[in-house]
Amino acid sequence: MKLIFIGPPGSGKGTQAKRLERDRGLIQLSTGDMLRATVASGSELGHQVKAIMEAGELVSDDIIVAMIAARMAQPDCADGGFILDGFPRTVTQAAALDKMLTQQQTQIDGVIQFVVDSAILVERISGRFSCANCGEGYHDSFKPPRKEGVCDVCGATEFKRRADDNSDAVKTRLDAYENQTAPLLPYYLEKGVLYKVDAMAEIDAVAAEIERVLGAIAPA
Ligand code: AP5
Repeated sequence: MKLIFIGPPGSGKGTQAKRLERDRGLIQLSTGDMLRATVASGSELGHQVKAIMEAGELVSDDIIVAMIAARMAQPDCADGGFILDGFPRTVTQAAALDKMLTQQQTQIDGVIQFVVDSAILVERISGRFSCANCGEGYHDSFKPPRKEGVCDVCGATEFKRRADDNSDAVKTRLDAYENQTAPLLPYYLEKGVLYKVDAMAEIDAVAAEIERVLGAIAPA
């Protein structure tokens, strides 16, 4: 199954994509994670995109499309299911994705829109942290580790917070979502592949709603 997750920053896309990776073996293709790995590598490209990301602005379409095309061409994506988490984010990226899928003679099965009240997003983002070793995501209030200071998944004790999770960058990221990404929704609605989930619900309830949507897309 090939899916796209669309929603504003902090709406829970990454949290749910990781669950589907674990539960259904779908591959999470997060352009944000790919870019953060590029920044951490210290490469020339990483230097180019670091300041853009920290300001909360979108990285150029050329860079993003080249990065995701290289990843989608790998055999695990060509042969299996995946979740595009954070891509496409602009009309240009959506057109490039259509072209890639046509070349691979495949298509997107569903686009899941994370519907959330923007007032909750700052709280979600400001409480977010992740395991420095395995990347498992947590939240100070909504999803703390079962044992304080210890990752539930790998037992590591080091955690990190994102450089763009500050109030100025979050505002820019929300604006980018409203102005450049939300306009993609009517396009996918028109294609008949758009499904909305209530992303204000608790994490387990959102996961259950996504499972219901996936059951409707591909009945067992
Ligand atoms: P990216 O990494 O994609 O960030 P984002 O879209 O801003 O989304 P987030 O990761 O912030 O939120 P999320 O929806 O995944 O929420 P999460 O599950 O973590 O992009 C970062 C930057 O990279 C961009 O700003 C841009 O610069 C660049 N970039 C990336 N892709 C690009 C592209 N295609 N084009 C151009 N530039 C690009 O949840 C948030 C918190 O809430 C967590 O702590 C979680 O535990 C908690 N939580 C989740 N769900 C719930 C729930 N239901 N109830 C309570 N708490 C919850």
